[in-house]
Amino acid sequence: MPSKSTARSAGASDSAPEPRPEIALEDLPGIGTTTAEKLRESGYTDLMELAVASPGDVAEAAEIGVAIAQKIIGEARRKADVGGFEPGTTVLERRKRLGRITTNSKAVDELLGGGVETQAITEFSGEFGTGKTQLAHQIAVDVQLPTAQGGLEGEVVYIDTESTFRPERIVDMAKGAGLDPEGALAKIHVARAFNSNHQMLLVAKAQELAREKPIRLLVVDSLTAHFRSEYMGRGELAPRQQHLNRHLHELLRFGDTYNAAIVVTNQVSSRPDILFGDPTRPIGGNIVAHAATYRLYLRKSKPPKRIARLIDSPNLPEGEAVYSLTGEGVRD
Ligand code: GTP
Ligand code: MG
Repeated sequence: MPSKSTARSAGASDSAPEPRPEIALEDLPGIGTTTAEKLRESGYTDLMELAVASPGDVAEAAEIGVAIAQKIIGEARRKADVGGFEPGTTVLERRKRLGRITTNSKAVDELLGGGVETQAITEFSGEFGTGKTQLAHQIAVDVQLPTAQGGLEGEVVYIDTESTFRPERIVDMAKGAGLDPEGALAKIHVARAFNSNHQMLLVAKAQELAREKPIRLLVVDSLTAHFRSEYMGRGELAPRQQHLNRHLHELLRFGDTYNAAIVVTNQVSSRPDILFGDPTRPIGGNIVAHAATYRLYLRKSKPPKRIARLIDSPNLPEGEAVYSLTGEGVRD
């Protein structure tokens, strides 16, 4: 582990850990460019993914024999930084560095135990127009604020899967928060994800960015839309959940490595889903339920009011908060 004093840029240097050097898939013996490409296309973006994969899955993904897959996995296990045991005091130290970002609504912040937490996934789910995207925009602005005002003086990676990122909204919200709009926009690094594999690749890309910039928030809006439209049939439930699971764990790892908050949005199925029958359940079933630390279920009330409800939280009481969607952004 490099010492903390070598930490890079200002802003995050006191609280974001030094990232580990990454070893490319191509660096493993037996993996050429083509195989590496095929693996990445199937969602195996780094050594750890390979290290914990099954030989059958890897063989299929890379179109190679099972014996070769087994060998590759063995190499990945030797080279991957699988981590190790650490004393509880180290865990406590890391927990102490937890940051929180305001949502600009006191009520919603309180529901979350003081704001959106770093080193965790926070999910906003709900039907269309409930404010998932507005909340994501608002938090992308607020994370840039000084700590005393509920921010982390950080920058943002924003993965946009539905083309609903609106720079104009950032400008409005930045003005509302007393930030320079141009400066605020410059600190939000936006990428459009064209499909679920692309979406997963962008998390790997985000790591490159996070080595140079103090990224303290990663947004995926929407987490599930591509997965949902790409894996339609009953027989595709298993691969869909597998990929989604891998994606969520890469997001969690990003959050841990860079002490960043992960905010994801999720639709609820409006009609009985052939995979998940309950029409008010967020997509992704228990895979998302297990990975997300905080899950807020949003619903409409008398405009411009909305209601957020905390669901399945292990350490916070269930409860509700009322917030409003205004021209200047999210308000109480
Ligand atoms: P889907 O992505 O369609 O599932 O919905 P969503 O939950 O992401 O909804 P979104 O966050 O896009 O919320 C849309 C709502 O935000 C609108 O119905 C408006 O109430 C509000 N809103 C969006 N832009 C503005 C704006 O410029 N001014 C005001 N006053 N409200 C806005
Ligand atoms: Mg939206």
